[in-house]
Amino acid sequence: MTSSQMRAVIAGTGRFLPEKILTNADLEQMVETSNQWIMERTGIKERHIAAENVSASDLAVPAAKEALKKAGMKAEDIELILVGTSTPDMYFPSTACFVQAKLGASKAVAFDILAACSGFVYGLTTANQYIASGMYKNALVIGAEVYSSIIDWEDRTTCVLFGDGAGAVVLKAKEGTAGILSTHIYSDGTKADYLQAPGGGSANRFTQQFLDEKKYRLEMIGNRTFKVAIKMMVEAAQTAMKHNGVEASDIKLVIPHQANKRIIDMVAKQLGLDGSLFYMNIEHVGNTAAASIPIALDEALKEGRAGKGDLILMVAFGGGFTWGSALIRL
Ligand code: UT7
Repeated sequence: MTSSQMRAVIAGTGRFLPEKILTNADLEQMVETSNQWIMERTGIKERHIAAENVSASDLAVPAAKEALKKAGMKAEDIELILVGTSTPDMYFPSTACFVQAKLGASKAVAFDILAACSGFVYGLTTANQYIASGMYKNALVIGAEVYSSIIDWEDRTTCVLFGDGAGAVVLKAKEGTAGILSTHIYSDGTKADYLQAPGGGSANRFTQQFLDEKKYRLEMIGNRTFKVAIKMMVEAAQTAMKHNGVEASDIKLVIPHQANKRIIDMVAKQLGLDGSLFYMNIEHVGNTAAASIPIALDEALKEGRAGKGDLILMVAFGGGFTWGSALIRL
């Protein structure tokens, strides 16, 4: 790679979390659980929950507006909108099309990326290809989720984990050394049943029996997913570092998918990286799936955890299984 290469540079970030907060104490009233169990096993204290009439695109739009403002761009100038989501507004049109309409981004091509919790890193990868090829000069990449809409609120093994929210990043084409250096994405469909929301698709139609069995809800084999998540996040992070000839000491900040504090701690340990390099906001937002990395990125940048010229490593894992990493110079 030469310094004159066209790269996708982060020009602005934004996030939006719905107002309502569901605490561990609230959950203690709903299922047989305890604040102590949730804190010790996950690191989550509270999560934001969208009102019943609020969709993924409703959360995406304010996050996108903030990112556009930060980038000094108008919605009309955006050429590509990608929304990573596994809780779309509806099957179709895509959530990205709803976002396009709500923003008035009339010039943009808009489509969704379905890769569960890896949706943002997949989206970043896709946008990067369009920008590097010269097809588009900018892109708005969003992660937006309303997992509260697919949670079984009587299932303590999943309902304590997830939260709602959205994060957005504006990418701009720019020559130089800053921007996305590389992304590395992977899939393994043989483990689809470890983490899935089988309801309502063409394989599992909405019959009365299906509804009675609550099959439209999210299902997860948590402890098996846990082990694979650690292994794959470590491998994806190592690949990104090796590909770019980067040492641990070169990295200013790691933005991991916020699924479980214990997963993040173990990934840091296995990579031999100082845990303080890993940004964590899981305590206050829970697992927001595809929104998790862009929400954390926006928070971290606004806290001044990284600045111009710094290297950021993102690493994600989710249902599919899907996983991946991205190395970015600010
Ligand atoms: O974002 C996409 C990727 N997602 C992930 O990577 C999530 C990965 N998985 C996890 O984070 C963890 O597996 C969980 C947090 C979901 C569960 O933690 P764990 O330490 O793996 O617990 P476990 O599933 O092995 O369950 C241990 C015990 C069980 O009881 P028994 O069978 O030992 O009596 C569960 O029934 O904990 C019980 N349990 C709970 N107890 C209190 C499960 N959920 C709860 C709960 N409160 N909420």
